[in-house]
Amino acid sequence: MAVVTSIINLKGGVGKTTLTLALAHYLAGEHSKRVLVIDLDPQTNATIALVTERRWRERDQSGQTLYQLFKDQLDGTHNFNAHESILTRVSNVSGGIPGLDLLPSSIRLHRIQDKITKISDLDTFRSTTTYALREALRDIMPHYDHVLIDCPPNLGIITLNGIAISRYFLIPVVPDILSTLGVPLVLDRMADFALRAQHEIFGLGIVVSRFRPTSRLHKQTVDSMRRYAIPGIHPPIFNSIITEDIEVAEAADVEEQVMSLRQKFGGSGPHKQFSALADEYLRYVGG
Ligand SMILES: Nc1ncnc2c1ncn2[C@@H]1O[C@H](COP(=O)(O)OP(=O)(O)OP(=O)(O)O)[C@@H](O)[C@H]1O
Ligand SMILES: [Mg+2]
Repeated sequence: MAVVTSIINLKGGVGKTTLTLALAHYLAGEHSKRVLVIDLDPQTNATIALVTERRWRERDQSGQTLYQLFKDQLDGTHNFNAHESILTRVSNVSGGIPGLDLLPSSIRLHRIQDKITKISDLDTFRSTTTYALREALRDIMPHYDHVLIDCPPNLGIITLNGIAISRYFLIPVVPDILSTLGVPLVLDRMADFALRAQHEIFGLGIVVSRFRPTSRLHKQTVDSMRRYAIPGIHPPIFNSIITEDIEVAEAADVEEQVMSLRQKFGGSGPHKQFSALADEYLRYVGG
């Protein structure tokens, strides 16, 4: 059965999508794992970084995105088809990476987010809407070794759909004061969900991203996060740290073909960091 991990933080811009994309690339491209990326974010950043805008628009127009899944919840219809919506062999590395698949999002999700919240308001943890993704992917899951879920920066009903199928969660943080403040809140909400939905979900770790080696604040924050990590309560900090590097931002471009992960993620630094991060991830999940 697939190892399912949500990449989550209530704070925006901390590197959730970047981490999801990089892990997916290295698990599929370096370790030959069968990987499904689920883009739960109406911003569609992960989608647009894995397939060209043209390919995504075709899917969007024919209702083959996660928008359809949630629209069905509102309309009481069953039009979403997971098999038909998943895009296979995605990425611009070597014409597409075998085993790297995507369940795309749609910016149309923005429009119906509030309505979906309303229909599930009475008892979120029993609402069928919270488990719509789980039901839709029931037959799909056994085909993958790893499922990585890129969550939006909130814990709304769409995110809860990802949490409800996840065994683990990863929290990317930028090591500054405002970004780390939100971590206890995420842990608290995950524990609450686990209790109320009776669903075990484990904090796999905190991944430091956009680290600036020249910043005293960044160094001090990482040190203190390591010192105060409490085994069993506070998830550990990954040994692999991702530094701020323009090549990481550029790796989100999917329009131009590249030949290797090294070329995509940036010759020396980022490539080695993401490769080490994927190794560490596999050690923790035992995959
Ligand atoms: N290590 C890095 N070095 C340089 N730029 C980075 C790095 N990580 C992320 N970025 C850039 O920072 C911005 C935010 O990153 P990203 O989109 O991954 O964050 P996010 O947490 O998914 O944001 P959101 O909450 O909006 O979904 C992006 O423009 C991305 O390219
Ligand atoms: Mg994002």
